[in-house]
Amino acid sequence: MYNSRISGLGYYVPENVVTNDDLSKVMDTSDEWIQERTGIKERRHVEKGTDTTTSMGVKAAKQAIERAGIDKDDIDFIVFATLSPDYYFPGPGVLVQRDLGIKTVGALDVRNQCSGFVYGVSVADQYIKSGMYKNVLVIGSELHSHGLDMTTRGRGVSVIFGDGAGAAILTREEDSSKGVLSSHLHSEGQHAEELSLIAPGMGKRWVTDIIEEKDPEDISYFPYMNGQFVFKNAVVRFSEVIMEGLQTNNLGPQDIDMLIPHQANLRISQFVQKKFGLSDDQVFNNIMNYGNTTAASIPIALTEAWEQGKVKEGDLVVLAAFGSGFTWGSVIIRW
Ligand SMILES: CC(C)(COP(=O)(O)OP(=O)(O)OC[C@H]1O[C@@H](n2cnc3c(N)ncnc32)[C@H](O)[C@@H]1OP(=O)(O)O)[C@@H](O)C(=O)NCCC(=O)NCCS
Repeated sequence: MYNSRISGLGYYVPENVVTNDDLSKVMDTSDEWIQERTGIKERRHVEKGTDTTTSMGVKAAKQAIERAGIDKDDIDFIVFATLSPDYYFPGPGVLVQRDLGIKTVGALDVRNQCSGFVYGVSVADQYIKSGMYKNVLVIGSELHSHGLDMTTRGRGVSVIFGDGAGAAILTREEDSSKGVLSSHLHSEGQHAEELSLIAPGMGKRWVTDIIEEKDPEDISYFPYMNGQFVFKNAVVRFSEVIMEGLQTNNLGPQDIDMLIPHQANLRISQFVQKKFGLSDDQVFNNIMNYGNTTAASIPIALTEAWEQGKVKEGDLVVLAAFGSGFTWGSVIIRW
């Protein structure tokens, strides 16, 4: 049986930096409130007419492909995780196949929000372990900024999210002690609406409803988040799924060389760090600079950690995510 390892990483964020002070000019918020509750100092917002979710994903992918030392035509399969696709359909996976100019390989879109990249890596890992594919491109990319309610009404959500993309190449590895050791995925749809964007959809708010009603008070097409409820569930599920991954491999928290948590909120990461007694060197955070970039947050953070020499050969690297669905998961990697 084969194993899979991450052989190349890349990320891309748009140039346009939006600080907390910038936000306080368009809504009733403050740098102090945002930093105290979330740790975020600034985030990136795409300027109209420049990038899309797909174009950012393509830029991240090109870097990952180059660093993996492969050719684009060596890619056997594409997995694209996002909650903010360019089109309602088709999903961005096929757009990446087109825009990278690669042969007609399969392209899968993952709809698991903040857990999207972890789900994507798990899928890629299984395809490689089964022997079906040798190189799988996994992308997480989000363009949130133009889908948010940038008024005081939406401030509880809008200050948190940012735009960006990250990508990884998973490659066949003959040495089974190296690479992805295990992945662990969960869902609890009971809380689906606690962090959701319900319109336009074919459930509660049809496209035709929105067009016909033209309701100026309609906010169903903006994301909704029950912040405190999400927070409480996040700290529990993050901890559970990290522990599940470690125990599966007969490891404990002190074996972690680098934990890359989904960048939901710095307070959530700090809670998890404290719970497991991890030092600052064992946890990587960059939410201060990018906000929460949902499916992109783990691959951006992993790439930055790797670029800074904080992820090295032989290290035990743990990816962990929690988000809308609710969905959560972890991936345990021997680098
Ligand atoms: C969103 C979050 C930061 C809000 O913090 P909180 O302490 O729960 O704050 P609340 O929502 O209770 O709001 C407290 C007050 O701040 C106000 N407020 C909300 N957003 C604000 C903002 N951006 N600026 C200033 N005030 C704000 C609220 O209106 C409320 O005012 P009130 O007391 O007068 O009613 C926090 O709940 C959180 O981080 N949740 C998890 C979010 C997350 O991780 N999401 C992604 C999961 S993948």
